[in-house]
Amino acid sequence: MVGVELRSEPSLISLDDSLGELARLADTAGLDIVGETSQKLDTPHPSTYIGSGKLEEVISLAEETLANVVLFDNELSPRHLRELEEKLGTNVRVVDRTALILDIFAQHAHTSDGILQVALAQYEYRLPRLTRAWTHLARQAGGGGGRAGSVGGVGLRGPGETQLEVDRREIRKRILFLKKELEKVREHRQRYRVQRKRSRIPLISLVGYTNAGKSTLLNYLTKSKVYVADQLFATLDPTTRRVILPGGHEALLTDTVGFIQKLPTQLIAAFQATLEEIAEADLLIHMVDITHPNAIGQAKAVEHTLRKIHAEHIPMIVALNKIDQLPDPQAAQEILHKFPQAVAVSALLGTGIPDLLRMVEDELFENYSKLSVQIPYAEGQLISLFHEQGHIERIEHNRKGVFIQGLIPGRLLARYALYTSIEPPVDEERFYNEEET
Ligand code: GTP
Repeated sequence: MVGVELRSEPSLISLDDSLGELARLADTAGLDIVGETSQKLDTPHPSTYIGSGKLEEVISLAEETLANVVLFDNELSPRHLRELEEKLGTNVRVVDRTALILDIFAQHAHTSDGILQVALAQYEYRLPRLTRAWTHLARQAGGGGGRAGSVGGVGLRGPGETQLEVDRREIRKRILFLKKELEKVREHRQRYRVQRKRSRIPLISLVGYTNAGKSTLLNYLTKSKVYVADQLFATLDPTTRRVILPGGHEALLTDTVGFIQKLPTQLIAAFQATLEEIAEADLLIHMVDITHPNAIGQAKAVEHTLRKIHAEHIPMIVALNKIDQLPDPQAAQEILHKFPQAVAVSALLGTGIPDLLRMVEDELFENYSKLSVQIPYAEGQLISLFHEQGHIERIEHNRKGVFIQGLIPGRLLARYALYTSIEPPVDEERFYNEEET
C-alpha cells in the first residue's frame, strides 16, 4: 500500500485514516496487505507519482514480500500508471484507489441497473489506461471472481490489429451499449418517480458514509432482511421500504450506496441515476458512525458529495449511530450540538429510534416553512399542490406563471427548490391579483 499526502490538495481525512480505509477496501476486495509506505509531497511526480527514492523502496518492498499488487491510495493518471507498471515489472500489477473501489462495486452489484452502472464506470476508467490485456483484480490476486468479465481476448482481431487495439475497440462498443441501456433505466425510473409524486407519499433517503449503519436502520425499521455486513459497500442497489411513522403517517425509506471520500468521478457519473433519487427525496437521514475516530471528516465528505449532486437544499436529520458502542454516552451529546438537527441512536438495538421517527414526522408533516416561488404554468401540479397542502398568503398570476408566497410543509420544500423567488418578475403585465388567507 502506498499513500501520498499532497500539500497541494488538502484532504478532509488524515493520511493514516485514509490508509486505514484503503486497507479495509483491500480486505473487502479479497487482498492481503503485506507492506505499507507513505510520502508527503507538494505535487505528484510528473511521471511516477512518487519520487524516485520512494519508488526504489516500493520496488524492493514488493520483491521482499512477493506482492503481486501495488495499491496506490490516490488516483493515478494513465501516464503514472504506465510508468509505474514499467518500473515495477510484469509480475506486479499497479492498482489505484479508484480501480479498487470499482472492483468492489463490481463484486457487490446485484440488480441489473447496478451491474450496468458499475460496468460502465469500469470501462470508462479503463479505456485511457489500457496498457495490457485486462484481467480481473481478484483473479490476479488469487481471490474470487467478480461480475464484470475480462475484456481481454474478447472479439476477433482485424488485420494488423494488436490485442490491445481489439480490447480498446471492444471497450468502446460496450461503453456505447451500456449508455443506451442505462438511458432506458433512467426513463423507467423517471416514470416511476412521476407515479410516486402522484401518490404523495413522502420519500426519505438514507445517506451516509460507507459502514455507518444505513442497512441496519432500514432493517430495524421495517423488520426486513436487507443485506447487512461489516464490509464496505455491502449495499449497492437502492432498496425502498414503506414505514409507518408514530403518528400514523406513511413514508418511503430508501437505502442508498455508501459514500466515501475520493469517490471516483466515474462512479458519480455512472451512478447518476441512483444519486438522482437522492436529489428527489423530500428528506434526508444522514447516518454518522459516531464511534469512528474521524466521524466528522466522514460526515463532511458526505455533505461534499451531496453538494455535487445538488441535494444540499433537501431538509436533513443527522442520526449519530452506534451509541451502544460508546464508552461514554455523554460524548454523543456534545457532538449533537455540531449539527442543526441531530439525534443519537443505535440502529442495532433501537435506542433513540422513536426520537428519530418523531423528528422525521415533524419535519415531514408538522413543520411549515415560509416560501416564495415563481412557478411556470407548465408545472401546474406544483401550483395545485400549494393550494392543497400549503397556506397561501399572496398569489399573483403573471405572464411566466404564478408567484405564490405562503407556508408549505417541510417535506414539500425540496419540490419547489428550482422556483424559489423573493419577488414576482418585474416589468410583467400582471393579469390579476388575488388575496387568499
Ligand atoms: P454500506 O452498505 O457500506 O453503505 O454500509 P451501511 O451504512 O449500510 O452499514 P451496515 O448497516 O451494513 O452496518 C455496518 C456494520 O455496522 C455492521 O456490522 C452492523 O452490524 C454495524 N452496526 C450498524 N449499526 C450499529 C449500531 O447501532 N451499533 C453497533 N454496535 N453496530 C452497528
